[in-house]
Amino acid sequence: MSKYKIAWLPGDGVGNDVMDCAKIILDTIGLDAEYIHGDVGWEFWKKEGNPLPDRTIKILKETDCCLFGAITSKPKDEAAKELAPELQDKGYVYSSPIVGLRQLLNLHTNMRPCKAFEGNPLNYRDDIDLIVFRENTQGLYAGVEFHPVPKEVFNALMVHPKMKKFDGVPLDDLAISTRIFTRKGCQSIIRQAFEYAKKHNRKTVTVIEKPNVIRETSGLMIREARKIAEEYPGIELWETNVDAMCMWLVKNPQKYDVLLSSNMFGDIISDLSAQLVGGLGFAASGNIGDNYALFEPTHGSAPKYAGMYKVNPMAMLLSVKLMLDWLGEKKHASNLDKAIAQVIKEGLVKTYDLGGNNTTLEVAEGVAKKFDTLS
Ligand code: IPM
Ligand code: MG
Repeated sequence: MSKYKIAWLPGDGVGNDVMDCAKIILDTIGLDAEYIHGDVGWEFWKKEGNPLPDRTIKILKETDCCLFGAITSKPKDEAAKELAPELQDKGYVYSSPIVGLRQLLNLHTNMRPCKAFEGNPLNYRDDIDLIVFRENTQGLYAGVEFHPVPKEVFNALMVHPKMKKFDGVPLDDLAISTRIFTRKGCQSIIRQAFEYAKKHNRKTVTVIEKPNVIRETSGLMIREARKIAEEYPGIELWETNVDAMCMWLVKNPQKYDVLLSSNMFGDIISDLSAQLVGGLGFAASGNIGDNYALFEPTHGSAPKYAGMYKVNPMAMLLSVKLMLDWLGEKKHASNLDKAIAQVIKEGLVKTYDLGGNNTTLEVAEGVAKKFDTLS
């Protein structure tokens, strides 16, 4: 029996191209693992009315962790039009499988490192090394939404004086998306960020919210952050509003260490941060729970490039690095990081986004060769 069982979910579009790269690296490492393929994504939405079939959930429950490619997400009306004719008008409603997986498996912490690799021509600056901790299951992405708004929901909200201005609006002309935070959820993401800072000798944790306007949810996050920060005397807590943070990240990204935010703000801030170090082609992520984790590049499925082996696989290779770290394979993780850094620095094999004309697979092979020289 292998040491690890890893769920293998390529998903949509270029997900498959970059997963092939992950395989090249994992085979080079010789990780003692069994990889179990799971169906997920648009194809299964169209054919089965479910982008995340139960058989896939079963695989996830029987594995140690998951490597995930990419997913196509569309708004529900557009998605409904693409269903197979026999499934049309049967009440199937599309929702993002990756958001669903994070909730189903309680992968409460999303960590997204954004480090500028030396020699990357796309770096905004070369001295950026930050990491975003994004709360991953609550807030605006928890999916508690209404349209039309049920009468009882409307009535219950009427206890709030600010609801008066919506009185009389037809319930079908009203849409509500809730932003729900729990104290425990806030504490958990804050603690993860501080623990990371402590372990990696980072000096600051910046909590990014908007408590001057979103007083209750953002307020809860900030208050809890202040309390927890007291337990970490060597690490400073910085508090920044999300709008200002976008400005500061463009102005002085090198000043930041660990960033911490709720689900939606973290989603936005992590794309901005990714662009500072070369774009989504370099953006890896780990969705981490108490006993399970799912690793994925944060780029989308880029359908127009699917199967062309054109896209940059670095985000996937860096996600593999995060997975190796999480599994406790520290030496392999650190060598993979070094191999990636050296390949980028040399600039001999590179995909089109970096001005090169190598394929996705050639870049992975380049990293694999480098890896071999290090181990
Ligand atoms: C991400 C993506 C997802 C998200 C989408 C695909 C649902 O943008 O992982 O950042 O919003 O979380
Ligand atoms: Mg995103």
